Amino acid sequence: MSVLNSDFSLAARRNAKIRLENLSISFKMDENKRVDVLEDISFDADEGSFTCILGPSGCGKSTLFNAIAGLLPPTAGNIYLGDRLINGKTGLVGYMFQKDLLLPWRSVLENILLGTEIQGRDRAKSEARARELMRRYGLEGFEAYYPKYLSGGMRQRAAFLRTMMLDNEVMLLDEPFGALDAQTRLSMQEWLHEVWRDSKKTIIFITHDVDESLFLAEKVLVLSHRPSRIIQTIQVPLPEKRSYEMMGNVEIIKLRTELFALLRRESDSGQTESPNGMGK
Ligand SMILES: Nc1ncnc2c1ncn2[C@@H]1O[C@H](COP(=O)(O)OP(=O)(O)OP(=O)(O)O)[C@@H](O)[C@H]1O
Ligand SMILES: [Mg+2]
Repeated sequence: MSVLNSDFSLAARRNAKIRLENLSISFKMDENKRVDVLEDISFDADEGSFTCILGPSGCGKSTLFNAIAGLLPPTAGNIYLGDRLINGKTGLVGYMFQKDLLLPWRSVLENILLGTEIQGRDRAKSEARARELMRRYGLEGFEAYYPKYLSGGMRQRAAFLRTMMLDNEVMLLDEPFGALDAQTRLSMQEWLHEVWRDSKKTIIFITHDVDESLFLAEKVLVLSHRPSRIIQTIQVPLPEKRSYEMMGNVEIIKLRTELFALLRRESDSGQTESPNGMGK
């Protein structure tokens, strides 16, 4: 390897907040059957970056997050947080699950405090911080409300702030806006983008939605159908501060068409799979 190349890879390493090296995950169903879900996944998410993972339904996106969050040990490969190997280690990254419901019997404030309460953190300090986050991110005045009185978008904001309260530098968000109507979804995307720019967190965000990925991400990774590999990596050619008008940019429209075609192809190949064809 040339000096130039090794210098370059050192610089790249310095910035990587999350690094996956050749990660594979298989589930053993019984003695004779194994489902290979993720295959040889490698990527970096730099410190303070916004990465979207785009992939067809059932390809293994949530499985990927479960592995990064330490809930699932890799079958092969490694996961690093900065320089630290974190295979199977929990509690190091923030994780908002795909179905991250608020508890209906707790107020919004009490819901946002849930994680810190479980961790046994100082109540007064946590509450002051929760109130400050609610003020800063548009939930002021709703502290004592129960979740059922909030709009879908507000509930998602509350669930997001509950994750943010744990102060992890990395946040994994699994399709947080999947269940929202189109209009609310757009305003939540703008909201999240602003929170990201303001908080400097490293965000990895799962979605099925091509437009959502292009609006939010600096880098989009496209996963194939199972066993899922990275089939495309795109650097989104937009500035850090974004507006919806930019989605009409010629480059973005080209990327959008390309991504739709890729996803379509992968979804179609998934539909031809027989249930028995999954195993090995
Ligand atoms: N603990 C497990 N044991 C066995 N199989 C599992 C387990 N967890 C996930 N799978 C299988 O792994 C595959 C990928 O599931 P996963 O939930 O990661 O997909 P996904 O891309 O998040 O799907 P969706 O788009 O519907 O959210 C599925 O076939 C699922 O049945
Ligand atoms: Mg999922």
